[in-house]
Amino acid sequence: MADSTRPYDVVLFGATGFTGGLTADYLAANAPAGLRWALAGRNEHKLAAVRDHLVAANPANPALADLPLLVADAADADALAEVVATTKVVATTVGPYVEFGGPLVAACANAGTDYVDLTGEPEFVDRTYVEHNAAAEGSGARLVHSCGFDSIPHDLGAYFTIKELAKEVGGEITTPVTMRGVVRAGAGFSGGTFHSALTAFSRARQMKEASTARRRLEPRPEGRRSRAVAGRPRRDHDLGYWLLPLPTIDPFVVARSGAHLPAYGPAFSYSHFAGTKTLRYAAGGAAGVTGLTLAAQVPPLRNALLKRVPQGEGPSPSRREKSWFTVDFVAETAGAKVRTRVSGGDPGYTETAKMLAESALCLALDENPNVAGQVTTATAMGDALLVRLQRAGIAFERR
Ligand SMILES: NC(=O)c1ccc[n+]([C@@H]2O[C@H](COP(=O)([O-])OP(=O)(O)OC[C@H]3O[C@@H](n4cnc5c(N)ncnc54)[C@H](OP(=O)(O)O)[C@@H]3O)[C@@H](O)[C@H]2O)c1
Repeated sequence: MADSTRPYDVVLFGATGFTGGLTADYLAANAPAGLRWALAGRNEHKLAAVRDHLVAANPANPALADLPLLVADAADADALAEVVATTKVVATTVGPYVEFGGPLVAACANAGTDYVDLTGEPEFVDRTYVEHNAAAEGSGARLVHSCGFDSIPHDLGAYFTIKELAKEVGGEITTPVTMRGVVRAGAGFSGGTFHSALTAFSRARQMKEASTARRRLEPRPEGRRSRAVAGRPRRDHDLGYWLLPLPTIDPFVVARSGAHLPAYGPAFSYSHFAGTKTLRYAAGGAAGVTGLTLAAQVPPLRNALLKRVPQGEGPSPSRREKSWFTVDFVAETAGAKVRTRVSGGDPGYTETAKMLAESALCLALDENPNVAGQVTTATAMGDALLVRLQRAGIAFERR
């Protein structure tokens, strides 16, 4: 684990961006007294403006005026090594991660610094596994990707559901489990998210190569199985929604937790869907994603789309106030079936900033399982993060 004599508990890298700014707001308003934290980014003037904003927004906390500012570019390995040596945990919102994220993961893996990010890019996660997992296992660093709406509600939701299923069977799960997660949301997105999504859509070949390289290297659990299974479009009679298979990073994260944690039983399979109330919405959603994926393959079209949604901007406070999400889970094993729901407010930004900040605090301050290397939120933090998020207003409930 990271050296507790380091000057900071948490460094927030990318504090000048849209989601980074919201994460700084959350930490300023909610971090426990005495947390030693700092803002980091590539531009000192912008960082100072973020700090001024935090001071003005939190008059009861004058100590924020002394928040340290650390300057580093995402491509400058020496500057990043200096930053990560100062802290137990780095939380980063500098994306697209496949473009900017590699050197920071390398620095953390080498220095034994815990790392959390917001990536939803499978290629990036598979590449960091191949390139940095062994170093992180050696140094004790916990590399925890996808600590935002991708993939905490799904990963910890599945973890919570397994615990409810275990209660239902009266102990350890000893028979195969099938689980599905169904996401619904009403929300807008930021320029940063749009850029990361289009970048990922345009890199199908590289994504496949990274996944193959990882599969060759990663050991499988002994005597157990855990898989992400692509579902098929259909009507869900338990939940009353139309289901569309959702090819995001989330099912892979859930399956990885299933592989790490024996509590998921001897054979765990997870399928991930978007849910809509009517077939018309399901068809519209599928057409929209297909259109964007095709446009991302054509560089002039991709660039024209990127210009329409500038980076650094995102949904207004009033839009975020009205936004919401639910993720419903249905899990079955021999003789038992449970339904659960995770729900909250604006998924992409207000709740994502909360999830990233709470994950960083959890790694820095809480008792957690003794693990290292690239690990999921359920594996690295599990119960401690569940408690934190419930306390912070994200609901995990049995239905
Ligand atoms: N998975 C999820 O649930 C979820 C939710 C929200 C966001 N995200 C992801 O989070 C990322 C950020 O999104 P956003 O909307 O906040 O983006 P954004 O507003 O564009 O912010 C990007 C940040 O990266 C910084 N940056 C860019 N290039 C840099 C470099 N070379 N060195 C150091 N810093 C650099 C920017 O600094 P400057 O201010 O100096 O330009 C800014 O602070 C995206 O990848 C997005 O997909 C994921």
